Amino acid sequence: MKFDTPAGTNPIDQLKVVGKPTDRIDGPLKVCGQAPYAYEQPAPNAAYGYVVGAAIAKGRIEAIDLTAAKAAPGVLAIITADNAGKLEKGNFNTARLLGGPEIQHYHQAVALVVAETFEQARAAAALVRVDYARGKGAFDLHAAKDSAQPSREQADLKLGDFAAAFASAPVTIDATYHTPDQAHAMMEPHASIAAWEGDQLTLWTANQMINWGRGDVARTLGIPREKVRLVSPYIGGGFGGKLFVRADAILAALGAKAAGRPVKVALTRPLMFNNTPHRPATIQRIRLGATREGKITAIGHENWSGDLPGGGIENGVQQTRFLYAGENRMLQCRLAVLDLPEGNAMRAPGEAPGMMALEIAIDEMAEKLGIDPVEFRILNDTQVVPEDPPKPFSQRQLVECLRQGAERFGWSKRSATPASVRDGQWLVGMGVAAGFRNAPTMKSAARVRLAADGRVTVETDMTDIGTGTYTIIAQTAAETMGVPLDRVDVRLGDSTFPVSAGSGGQWGAASSTSGVYVACMKLRETVAQKLGLDPATVTFSSGRVRSGRRSVALGDAARDGEIVVEDAIEFGDLARRYQQSTFAGHFVEAAVHAHTGEMRVRRMLAVCAAGRILNPKSARSQVIGAMTMAVGAALMEELAVDKRFGFFVNHDLAGYEVPVHADIPHQECIFLDEADPLSSPMKAKGVGELGICGVAAAVANAVYNATGVRVREYPITLDKFFERLPTA
Ligand code: MOS
Repeated sequence: MKFDTPAGTNPIDQLKVVGKPTDRIDGPLKVCGQAPYAYEQPAPNAAYGYVVGAAIAKGRIEAIDLTAAKAAPGVLAIITADNAGKLEKGNFNTARLLGGPEIQHYHQAVALVVAETFEQARAAAALVRVDYARGKGAFDLHAAKDSAQPSREQADLKLGDFAAAFASAPVTIDATYHTPDQAHAMMEPHASIAAWEGDQLTLWTANQMINWGRGDVARTLGIPREKVRLVSPYIGGGFGGKLFVRADAILAALGAKAAGRPVKVALTRPLMFNNTPHRPATIQRIRLGATREGKITAIGHENWSGDLPGGGIENGVQQTRFLYAGENRMLQCRLAVLDLPEGNAMRAPGEAPGMMALEIAIDEMAEKLGIDPVEFRILNDTQVVPEDPPKPFSQRQLVECLRQGAERFGWSKRSATPASVRDGQWLVGMGVAAGFRNAPTMKSAARVRLAADGRVTVETDMTDIGTGTYTIIAQTAAETMGVPLDRVDVRLGDSTFPVSAGSGGQWGAASSTSGVYVACMKLRETVAQKLGLDPATVTFSSGRVRSGRRSVALGDAARDGEIVVEDAIEFGDLARRYQQSTFAGHFVEAAVHAHTGEMRVRRMLAVCAAGRILNPKSARSQVIGAMTMAVGAALMEELAVDKRFGFFVNHDLAGYEVPVHADIPHQECIFLDEADPLSSPMKAKGVGELGICGVAAAVANAVYNATGVRVREYPITLDKFFERLPTA
């Protein structure tokens, strides 16, 4: 079905199941350790593969000596570029997943050692001797900044006359912000099991986008996509790091072929940070001009990031197109070539680092104007995308998010004078930021089956990366078919199922449930037909189908055999005619110890406007998880670049520290009561990425309010502000 007119009243609006806080249906399996992740799938007779990562960042392999490794106990096969055959490019540069003789980045895989046991593979891998000729690489974004070039991904955006408006504005700021390279650091490492039956490959692999992955594996190995099956029913977090297949998947496939048996490959944690992609660092210069009354007249936002040759930008200006009014605008991104590991999508690519800079700049401007930062944002709200021609938002309640948030958080108690509030030895401050993330939609298909006992089974290649997909899909089917939740079975993450939107860009929830919804609507038609009921008056509830005086058990329609239907939702013109975005108001209270500089996030509140919330319980988990992740971005997380040798030094979870929920005593998340009929038949959008966008800046603004020290370089660590702390 094509979604190209606004959704009218439909069965989802009953909200008997959808919209109710619902426990995860996969929860018990997960807490009992019974949900099989990729590496835990049954694979009889499997051998183990261990990846050897390049010890240089750029250069060539001069020679590989495998003699000792081959002779080691248990070794079955060793894959290198010499025997792997030519790897083709997939959706992204999958050919790069096995390096040699050219080396493109540190810890790029150069060999896979396959052995009977994991320990044997690891021991033999240590015996692989590689001689390198080290080349000269570029590893420093600051040094490469001036060589950065425009990128096709984001054209320069010019509106009005930014230079003139900025020059003549009575109040201006011009500041440069830095966000570091960051790691996804998801719990489950990249892991795959590959098994061949003849020329048919099955890969159990941790992957967010089954259909992309299937295509990439097929293209990379040069085999037809029909010969590749991907299975990924449970995924222990992705954050974008599993949008594409990685070395574990491709090397497991090659290793299994060479060994003639299934092969299991998991990337070790210390390998992941340099072998797999990361969120690239940015340098962002923001210039704002405003009238004395606080109306923004000029917005300039320039963003620099780097990536491997042929790579992409980290689009820090993405939200600046949409968030605030202002007639004169200049936005641009520049891309430098760096020889660090691959930069790629991490939770809210673009907006997450973009908001980290923009929302400090807005705070700085509000202070300079002497206007409350909540009011300053409200004053510069826009109800259309400020471009030519202006485009309406499908829905935009940023002002409401900020107002409700301020009210709930006790914002009126904030002192506008920095470093003026003390709680014993602690300096206490409050910060605010807007939250913004676009809400794209993607075509999504599903198959639904109705059995004679009235059970409904949904099958789609959609993934649940820890987000709650199983549950919202079950809720959707239960609501549409009029059955209790426990009469629905959901089967996900298998390329033999219809192609879904997959999990990415916070499009997963709205798109995949919409696909399930249209498939269920088709099933309703089929059921009415089979039972000879008038499709115009038929209703589905409590496991029964009713029309006029007739009431029949739903399962009766399948008396003569299971009914199977399939449909897909496609998103038409509405997604182009209306800007579909999600909004939030983020509030943070921070305390900084006056003598030691120790920092504590005491309270956080997010008020979100993101269309209909399908499951307030899992949506809340998404948002508070994202808020916690953003505290990491604000205060802790940074991949430290060794600029001489070109690698991330802190490549494990001891050196790359992330916060946990226990670090923050109070986190609250409120959803505005919204339903967006322009977004999808579900009237839903997404929250998984909204929750991270803006939060780090709210933390930074709270730290500033507490201490009077403005740090423009994330993460806000002690060394950057300690000497500037007010003396006690
Ligand atoms: Mo998201 S970074 O598109 O998984």
